[in-house]
Amino acid sequence: MYTASEITDLLNLPMFESDELFKTANETKINTVGNIVFTRALIELSNSCIKDCFYCGIRMGNKLTKRYILSDKEISKTIDYTIKSGFKSIVIQSGENSSTEFILKVEDILKQIAQQSNNTIRVTLSMGEHSDDTYKKWQDAGAHRYLLRIETSNPKLYSQIHPHDDKHSFKQRIQCIESLKKLGYQTGSGVMIGIPGQSDEDLANDILFLKNLDIDMCGMGPFLEHEQTPLFNHATIPLLKRFEFSLKMIALLRLAMPDINIAASTALQSVVPNGREQGILSGANVIMPNITPLHYRELYKLYKNKPGINQNIEDSITALSENINAIGHSLSLDEWGDSLHYKKEKLHISHVKE
Ligand code: 5AD
Repeated sequence: MYTASEITDLLNLPMFESDELFKTANETKINTVGNIVFTRALIELSNSCIKDCFYCGIRMGNKLTKRYILSDKEISKTIDYTIKSGFKSIVIQSGENSSTEFILKVEDILKQIAQQSNNTIRVTLSMGEHSDDTYKKWQDAGAHRYLLRIETSNPKLYSQIHPHDDKHSFKQRIQCIESLKKLGYQTGSGVMIGIPGQSDEDLANDILFLKNLDIDMCGMGPFLEHEQTPLFNHATIPLLKRFEFSLKMIALLRLAMPDINIAASTALQSVVPNGREQGILSGANVIMPNITPLHYRELYKLYKNKPGINQNIEDSITALSENINAIGHSLSLDEWGDSLHYKKEKLHISHVKE
């Protein structure tokens, strides 16, 4: 395992000297989890959010965004479509909402997915911080995995990009991730790369932090500015550098945690059209095609230039599959794609119990 200063050195290697890093990370991935790229059909359930994160386009304070939540009928149609398209893994992402109504709605959706698919689909939730009771309720209704990014492992930087109140507490965020793990979710986290004021030491510490947290999955990508947020025009690292750091962070995390699932984020694709493919070649093994009904995509804008706003799913899957083949991998729709790291841990626990 690299030390923080070794990671910092690797982050600062010029791109033309970084091939070895990407190649080693890609080979480590292929030797550990294989050359299959798992897909997760992504449904963006709602852009209403009670949080006010300074970087995010759907923050509560953004009065210029029209808010939506998919209706029961739209959800039903989308689930139906997901099953017919052959996906075996769904991610439901949403702005944070702690109302009883929302919690029940998510519970209903989970039950509906289990019923409509005959329990053949794995569901990941990504909807922020909730009580242990809520996490448990959703797990009982069929959620298997949960993504909750820490955003940055540096508490000081965290407090610079969030309001200072109980709703945006670094400690609370970590506690939620720990709760999810304790409940037995496959737990994912991740960070943004190139946040204004973030140093390369911060990024190195993020790798060590994620390793120490013993996550099963990771999603991370470049910080991208959004005009209607306080951090617009505050980037301290040029965009292409943020992209480069993101690829290196994927590679370094793969080397630190060979058996986890790592997503090639949509944010990578918004910087460079083949950004996700570059992410795969740097050690990622998951892609999340967006299946949100097209007319809502414009509204779920966390950052500017979010790609896929107008692209329908059939076109995007065919093209993606070809691109993934071209880089020596194959795209899989019909597997759960559970994290090997999680499966090993489960096996270990059951052995210890016996
Ligand atoms: N740039 C990049 N990523 C962002 N996210 C939110 N806003 C931005 C942005 N401006 C990411 C956060 C959040 C995830 C859902 O989207 O990491 O956890």
